[in-house]
Amino acid sequence: MRKIGVVGIGHVGATVAHIIVSQGLADALVLVDKQPDKLASEVLDFRDAASLLPHHVTVTAGEPKDLADADVVISALGHIELIQPGGDRFTELRANTPEVQQVGRDLKAAGFNGVLIVISNPVDVITGLYQQATGLPTQQVFGTGTYLDTARLKRALGEALAIDPRSVAGYMLGEHGDSQFAAWSTVKALGQTATDLAANYHLDLDQVAEDARVGGFTVFAGKKYTNFAIAHAAVSLAQLVLSDARNEAIVSHYDARFAGYISTPAVIGRGGIVADFALALTAAEQAALKQSADAIAAKTAEYL
Ligand code: 2OP
Repeated sequence: MRKIGVVGIGHVGATVAHIIVSQGLADALVLVDKQPDKLASEVLDFRDAASLLPHHVTVTAGEPKDLADADVVISALGHIELIQPGGDRFTELRANTPEVQQVGRDLKAAGFNGVLIVISNPVDVITGLYQQATGLPTQQVFGTGTYLDTARLKRALGEALAIDPRSVAGYMLGEHGDSQFAAWSTVKALGQTATDLAANYHLDLDQVAEDARVGGFTVFAGKKYTNFAIAHAAVSLAQLVLSDARNEAIVSHYDARFAGYISTPAVIGRGGIVADFALALTAAEQAALKQSADAIAAKTAEYL
């Protein structure tokens, strides 16, 4: 039986749950939130949909202790109300830290030994806090990181080339935040490298990368949160775990080179990160990755 837990049922968590329910990706879905009335209403709303779905999903309200046997837990808790337009995701760090540590301790006490996928921001630091609080192996705890920013890069480049973003390969690397960067040496589309694409289609690659880098705040400016893309990012990663896909994805995970969490590609399967691999980056991209790791460390000290 496929069991998923979602912790934090705000805009993002509710959208994660809706995707799971509508796509039938779990047989049991446990929703956890610190607001009991809201949680009960979300569960009832999903139950009202049950007779209208082509598959069965048992949706219940629960607590971390009810997630002991979950295959995947997704953390979507956060304080989006603290974020300012054009601000920094680190603004949530101080408010999210105690809640994340408590959920992590509760999951550990319950004996949870599945895969924990983290959305909560600042996701690179929060993922590390969850790994410490749960005591899970680092392979079993990773964050959505620049998986979402990579999707934004594909959207921006796809629009510039008038092609489906699924036709674009490559990565945004580093912090899920200001210091992320497009690793253009990894980007390809239409059988061409990014350099050739820029020449052949008269593209401003810096502008494309910037469009992706600030994409979250562009959406935030109009609706004061983001939910659809981030929820699909988390659910698609959960699907890689549940199906033991052994597919590569860019996720925020522990990187011994920097003694911290940062987004580089990994192979995702049932056990979480089932294999790691190093990208052949240019010297400039390697320097940008180090710079991003340093930025995460510096902002952690500044905001905590
Ligand atoms: C975003 O960029 C929520 O940080 C996430 O949309």
